[in-house]
Amino acid sequence: MSSYNSARNSIKSGDDLYQLTTARLESIRAQLAQAPRSGKLKNKVCIITGVGSLKGIGRAAALRFAHEGAKHLYLLEFDPTNLPDLEATINKSYPDVKVTTIQGDAADEALISKVCSMALQDEGRLDVFFANAGIASRKSLTDTTADEYMNMMRVNALSCFLAIKHAAPVMEEINPARGKHASSGSIVMTASVAGVRSGAGPVDYSASKAAVNSMAQTSAYQLQRKDIRVNSICPGLIETGMTGATFDHARQRGTAGKLGQLNPLGRYGIAEEIAQVALFLASDDSSYVNGQNIAVDGGLSASHPVIPGRWA
Ligand SMILES: NC(=O)c1ccc[n+]([C@@H]2O[C@H](COP(=O)([O-])OP(=O)(O)OC[C@H]3O[C@@H](n4cnc5c(N)ncnc54)[C@H](O)[C@@H]3O)[C@@H](O)[C@H]2O)c1
Repeated sequence: MSSYNSARNSIKSGDDLYQLTTARLESIRAQLAQAPRSGKLKNKVCIITGVGSLKGIGRAAALRFAHEGAKHLYLLEFDPTNLPDLEATINKSYPDVKVTTIQGDAADEALISKVCSMALQDEGRLDVFFANAGIASRKSLTDTTADEYMNMMRVNALSCFLAIKHAAPVMEEINPARGKHASSGSIVMTASVAGVRSGAGPVDYSASKAAVNSMAQTSAYQLQRKDIRVNSICPGLIETGMTGATFDHARQRGTAGKLGQLNPLGRYGIAEEIAQVALFLASDDSSYVNGQNIAVDGGLSASHPVIPGRWA
């Protein structure tokens, strides 16, 4: 047993558990920061949506994709506030990576079609579409209006449908003059453990994420024999802009040690841990992974709720 696990098991206080978690997360961040650039996305042209939140999965993925040598990143976000900072950060650390930021709605069909066409026109190819933009809700089933339900489906599910619909034909195009000799591509979508089973989100959010998981399976089937893969990621509890209020509240109340305690790892996750899986699915490292819903949740969806100290 590692010293991390033996320490974790022998300590009961919430403060101690929280300190262990933050120490573990710091070590993960430090390890990623020191990782050499290995060119996993060399020459790849990528679109990522929902990149605007400073602690978000989209921004972490944009930085990871740049670290791994993507050729051109098209970064789309509804809220323009943090786009200049993201662009400047990538330009400074990775001057070899081209960046185009776009303010707009990931569920706007004309815009998504235009961004896919831009990639084709600028670079002669589109290799990766990471459809990550999403919103959450907190309302109970009976308090959710039909309009709120439909808006959730529009932002979280329609955005993924449009990504697949418009990215796939562009990924199929061959363009030998610009080095694209065969159809290929990877479409990655951020779903959620809430789309796998209940207890991780309200009905509208969970239904929208279940739709995303279904689209990974059914689109992979429809896009057969084109070497275009479609997969979804199902994060568990991750500290981002979306969950920030929950984390702040727990820290203020002194209950931060309880965050993520229901999963077998006994901790929450950070955006960089999801970005790593997005990188895997985007890159050729996952060349035979297709139509899958990959849970990245500390084991939550594999387990009944964990009761600390009980082993079976
Ligand atoms: N944080 C978690 O615990 C968690 C768990 C499971 C799934 N997810 C999913 O991860 C994805 C990323 O969320 P996050 O946790 O990084 O949250 P976040 O709020 O930090 O980031 C989401 C980003 O998407 C943007 N966005 C929202 N609607 C948009 C639209 N219509 N067009 C373009 N951009 C839009 C937001 O402005 C924001 O910048 C979401 O799909 C979310 O549902 C998050």
